[in-house]
Amino acid sequence: MAEPLLRIRSLRLDIEDHDRSRAVLLDVNFDVMPNEVMGLVGESGSGKTMTALTVMRLLPPAARASAGQIDFGGQNLLSLPESGMRQVRGSKIAMIFQNPRAALNPLMRAGDQVARALMLHQGLTRPEARRASIDLLRHVGISDAEARARAYPHQLSGGMAQRVLIAIMLACRPALLIADEPTTGLDVTIQAQIFELIKKVQAETGASLLLITHDLGVVSEVCQRVAVMYAGQIMEQAGVRDLFQRPSHPYTERLLGSILRVDQAAELDTTRAIAFASIDYDSAGCRFANRCPDVLDVCWAERPAACWLGDDHVVFCHLRSEGQP
Ligand SMILES: Nc1ncnc2c1ncn2[C@@H]1O[C@H](COP(=O)(O)OP(=O)(O)OP(=O)(O)O)[C@@H](O)[C@H]1O
Ligand SMILES: [Mg+2]
Repeated sequence: MAEPLLRIRSLRLDIEDHDRSRAVLLDVNFDVMPNEVMGLVGESGSGKTMTALTVMRLLPPAARASAGQIDFGGQNLLSLPESGMRQVRGSKIAMIFQNPRAALNPLMRAGDQVARALMLHQGLTRPEARRASIDLLRHVGISDAEARARAYPHQLSGGMAQRVLIAIMLACRPALLIADEPTTGLDVTIQAQIFELIKKVQAETGASLLLITHDLGVVSEVCQRVAVMYAGQIMEQAGVRDLFQRPSHPYTERLLGSILRVDQAAELDTTRAIAFASIDYDSAGCRFANRCPDVLDVCWAERPAACWLGDDHVVFCHLRSEGQP
């Protein structure tokens, strides 16, 4: 079995907020294998972005990774000095964000930003990089690439800006790409095109992709494996097919149930369809207990241990460890 490219173990992230500290990530464990598309799903506030930002070490000042390790390329990223981390960001791990225009330099033409990445990461000369940048823009589906290369970010549509970011990322040739809700805010048709492009780029480069999304529909089309996060914890993790056929955590079941409803009522946001109860970060038990339809006494008192349902399917739920079907 191949070694994982990224291995996250026992990760805990505390955020200081209004004089109190909350573990917004607690005992997070998952791997991303080479050349794999791994999905990370969960509702708003579940800790998906914080997980990505911890890997990139781009956390807000109030946040601190207080336990665990993030192994990547033989190094624990959590103990790497900032100078080492700067070499990892961009060159080895690249991230594309929800708001592509904000991630681009507003004062620099789109083509120059791609060319700069090519010079920096592939050692091309300026004229070589100029030419290659146009090719790359074409490659990510930008028509009239010469003209678009001269545009500034504010002159680009959101979908176009995301394509430029993907071109920059391609220029960097990272081993791992993290895409955090890369199509939020784009038109539905453009969203589908961007996912197609991300899939194509991933397949061509052989990079691994960690895809963060609310949308289990996207996961089913793009990902091979998926981790379901709730309140800063992984509740279930499995191959995509297995998860859809055999969802084993009550939270996963509800997420899947809500997409089925969404297919019927197109406008509904899948995850917000679930009734909201505030998360009890101090709970000694399962963080989903106060929203779980099948809660047991033990759920309030003890955190569920991992229950393996197959080689690659794990669930954290007392209902399963109690041996119920
Ligand atoms: N800068 C910050 N300061 C304090 N708390 C924060 C900060 N950013 C995020 N949090 C908290 O961390 C937790 C996890 O947030 P995160 O942004 O990772 O969620 P998410 O799963 O990415 O949600 P979304 O789907 O809305 O993007 C939430 O409780 C959030 O309130
Ligand atoms: Mg987020």
